[in-house]
Amino acid sequence: GATRLGPGLLSLDDLDEAQLHALLTLAHQLKRGERVANLHGKVLGLVFLKASTRTRVSFTVAMYQLGGQVIDLSPSTTQVGRGEPVRDTARVLGRYVDGLAIRTFAQTELEEYAQYAGIPVINALTDHEHPCQILADLLTIRENFGRLAGLKLAYVGDGNNVAHSLLLGCAKAGVSIAVATPEGFAPDPAVGARASEIAGRTGAEVQILRDPFEAARGAHVLYTDVWTSMGQEAETQRRLQLFEHYQINAALLHCAEAEAIVLHCLPAHRGEEITDEVMEGARSRIWDEAENRLHAQKAVLAALMGGR
Ligand code: CP
Ligand code: NVA
Repeated sequence: GATRLGPGLLSLDDLDEAQLHALLTLAHQLKRGERVANLHGKVLGLVFLKASTRTRVSFTVAMYQLGGQVIDLSPSTTQVGRGEPVRDTARVLGRYVDGLAIRTFAQTELEEYAQYAGIPVINALTDHEHPCQILADLLTIRENFGRLAGLKLAYVGDGNNVAHSLLLGCAKAGVSIAVATPEGFAPDPAVGARASEIAGRTGAEVQILRDPFEAARGAHVLYTDVWTSMGQEAETQRRLQLFEHYQINAALLHCAEAEAIVLHCLPAHRGEEITDEVMEGARSRIWDEAENRLHAQKAVLAALMGGR
């Protein structure tokens, strides 16, 4: 069916519109127990070069609940940490495990794993993209509003990995997206251009802006992420100043639609990119969003590894 994916999920752009909708439907059905998937005997390798709570735990629990298993392949416990080349590691791992979920820095390293492993490789976050997060986000939006096409999402903050996957995912889902960042922190123009091209087909609108209030106007979803991503810690102080006005707070929420919801991929820094009041407030769907990582990734795993 349309949920057959392959060979992996390195970018949200690996999914066409039909595959994206089919995955979200599968995730929804798995969540509600209307459908089952079976990965008995399958093993997912976790290669994480950065910290993770949600992604690591939700992939692990997803595999266990689908009848499969995971193995931790962190660089500190493998020869990767001692400099064994990716292309060698990938070819070997591909002969043991059935899939790899990889969190690393460079998108090119992820692509090298995919090129050599010969098994499905899933992007568990790179500096460039975070596709699994955005599948959970779209699932959350769809659950909340009962539809995707025709809605508007405003992303406020850093034009980072999460912003890139949101641009691609929203465009494919027919969700208009406005990204507001300080000067010098806009998303990769190539990703913006690609999102605009996709949006031309789906009827969505893509805007790259400076003003968070302009972005929030008419939005059904307000979204933000940390100002300083993993690997950028040296820039923290500078970013604290530059991003000061890029916060989801009561004033920004007031600019959005009355029924607007607030999302954050987490972890959050209260008082920086989002206020405690909004995080804990009536419009927050942040905890449902975190839960949906589990359901969305079950759908990804089933579609990639289930032999469906
Ligand atoms: N949102 C997200 O990916 O969280 P973790 O870094 O905890 O996995
Ligand atoms: N942009 C953040 C997302 C964390 C889930 C980072 O890359 O650190």
